[in-house]
Amino acid sequence: MKTKVSDDVKYASDLLRKNELVAIPTETVYGLAGNIYSETAIRAIFQMKGRPLYNPLIVHIASRDQLNDFVINVPKVALKLADTFWPGPMTLVLEKKDNVPDLITAEKPTVAVRIPNHQLTLKLLANLDFPVAAPSANPFGRISPTKASHVVEYFDGKLKMVLDGGTCTKGIESTIIGFENDKAVIFRLGSLSKDKIEQITGPIQLKNKAENNPVAPGMLSRHYAPKTPFVVVENATQYCDTIESKKLAVLKFQETVSVINNSIVKTIVLSDSGSFEEAASNLYNAMHELDSLKVDCIVAELFPNTDLGTTINDRLRRAAKT
Ligand code: TXA
Ligand code: MG
Repeated sequence: MKTKVSDDVKYASDLLRKNELVAIPTETVYGLAGNIYSETAIRAIFQMKGRPLYNPLIVHIASRDQLNDFVINVPKVALKLADTFWPGPMTLVLEKKDNVPDLITAEKPTVAVRIPNHQLTLKLLANLDFPVAAPSANPFGRISPTKASHVVEYFDGKLKMVLDGGTCTKGIESTIIGFENDKAVIFRLGSLSKDKIEQITGPIQLKNKAENNPVAPGMLSRHYAPKTPFVVVENATQYCDTIESKKLAVLKFQETVSVINNSIVKTIVLSDSGSFEEAASNLYNAMHELDSLKVDCIVAELFPNTDLGTTINDRLRRAAKT
């Protein structure tokens, strides 16, 4: 079976109604979507990704009105966040109602929900009378897809359709926010920066470290990882100068590396103009591209640790973990 790549929302809706999976575009990354009420579809998501069942999925809805169908006891600050940032790259983890299947939430008492900001997917969701669960459309642990072609590379022959919505504008997953005693905490850094969230919540705690029993298992060890060995360094120029007889590829924020070293096969600069947003939107595509070069090592230079730079550094470090 060849994967169909098209922007045909009606065809995508028909497949989803028949318990099939469709990869959908969002502003963050592509998701592998299925009907939350179809056990067949949800099991197929875990199976296709090779994802363990203990790692819960995000429920994607079309509008704020639907929120109360799935959650209860929503803290005031959560509503304020939803009003401010939805549709957008923010996921809220809220107390779930009984009608949310346990398979979606890994039997947790909470469910992760978001309204994605992508016209095609909003149209699709409005067409359906059920929400979809959608993890990022990559095999477990690998780099998330930011273009239809990335999804096809991963799942050609297994997946019926990618709803093609072009390149994801944000390029990094949503920021996940949970609540402890009605106070917001960040479970996963993402496309919505901590600074923007704090304008609504005040100082917010970050609880995204890998623990024995993590609240967000996606935060565990190696994740967002290329196949090529990947190192993260403070200074790519200095690092590459010390390496001999290896083929290297370099990933940098602004200017190219200035080493006289013919072992560097390719350097990708993520934003000439020094924009974090531009760098974030290019990051995964650059990682996909460098991974395909079959070099001995990808050398990524850390970003300044502010604003979205913090999120980008989080992803670089997770890609480098072994
Ligand atoms: O931007 C995104 O969030 C993308 C697009 C497709 O929406 N989706 C995405 O899904 O990144 P996924 O499955 O790759 O990551 C979802 C993360 C996982 O780390 C999961 O553990 C966490 O959300 N999660 C889901 N439900 C949760 C819950 N009830 N409590 C805590 N964490 C939860
Ligand atoms: Mg993922």
